[in-house]
Amino acid sequence: MKIKKIAISTGGGDAPGLNAVIRATTLAALHRGWEVFGIRDGYNGLLLPDQYPQGWLTPLTRNEVRGITHLGGTIIGTTNKNNPLRFPIRDADGNVRQIDRTDEIIDAFQAFELDALVSVGGDGSMTIANALSQKGLRVVGVPKTIDNDLDQTVATFGFETAVTFATECLDRLHTTAESHHRVIVVEMMGRYAGWIALESGLSGSADVILIPEIPYNLEKVAEKVYERERSGSKFAIVVTAEGAKPVGGELTFKTHLIDNQKRLGGVGAKISDALRQLTGKETRLVVLGHLLRGGSPCAYDRQLALRFGAAAVRALAEGKHGIMVALDPPKVKYVPLSKATHRIKTVPLDSDLILTARDLGVCFGD
Ligand code: F6P
Repeated sequence: MKIKKIAISTGGGDAPGLNAVIRATTLAALHRGWEVFGIRDGYNGLLLPDQYPQGWLTPLTRNEVRGITHLGGTIIGTTNKNNPLRFPIRDADGNVRQIDRTDEIIDAFQAFELDALVSVGGDGSMTIANALSQKGLRVVGVPKTIDNDLDQTVATFGFETAVTFATECLDRLHTTAESHHRVIVVEMMGRYAGWIALESGLSGSADVILIPEIPYNLEKVAEKVYERERSGSKFAIVVTAEGAKPVGGELTFKTHLIDNQKRLGGVGAKISDALRQLTGKETRLVVLGHLLRGGSPCAYDRQLALRFGAAAVRALAEGKHGIMVALDPPKVKYVPLSKATHRIKTVPLDSDLILTARDLGVCFGD
């Protein structure tokens, strides 16, 4: 069946480069004579119709995607709540249960004669995309996340921008840490993978890098601080991934009042307090948090996002679906959606990045 109309959805946490994907997908599709629509806020536009009186679809024309390659965020909105596979429903007695609403998406695509979906997102979005594909929808996934934790692709757009910004922050923190002879602990996002902390920590000359893949012992971190002190450096920069945890200990979560959901966060405060007690030095904490998700995508992320968007449309035009586009330098390849969601990509312990950092004397708290 020939494609005439497609929809794009952006899901999960936003990442710099989403708008570049939307632009590339839209222009490549318009170029083939197709119509393009954006689904508002992940699938919320479709699943919460009361909240979207203007409708769940927004037409994407040349005008809508003009001048957006360099913009952070996503013009069609996103959400990391209301997963259609486990959509939360509140019963009359106040209990929340979860139901699968993917059939409604399939039905809506049929009703609006949408022939295919380009789903842009992280592992959660790819799992939804895979379920929709198994129910017969033509879907092509586009991997996105600042965390770089999607398997089957060498890189996701958004990551490089986050690492570049985090590195700049570390550069700025060095001068103030040195002037005040302080230990500054910098907590970074990344979920259960240490990519952002590791790459920015290495390029920003952190003294200590704590990542989920290597459980830490704070005594070792304190020893690194003393060692620096003995050699005349009376300050230290300690980078920690939000998913770092002590040897034999637990991850640190915060419960958000608004939705009662637990999210990673808070380990930096624990480390900062403990290091103050262990070393007697003044410590400060900086949590980069959502700053890592904002801003203009760097040139690398713009190109990757544009390549992914165009490749998704080429796939559909060639009759391919049930796949995710993926970077396999120098090419963009296609991998089955089912394979892309098997596991997350964490930092291998024998990674050259870790070996390099160790050779430079960086402490991993082990
Ligand atoms: O996956 C992207 C990410 O920024 C993670 O690094 C982080 O743990 C999470 O999203 C934060 O989510 P929220 O936007 O709900 O705070």
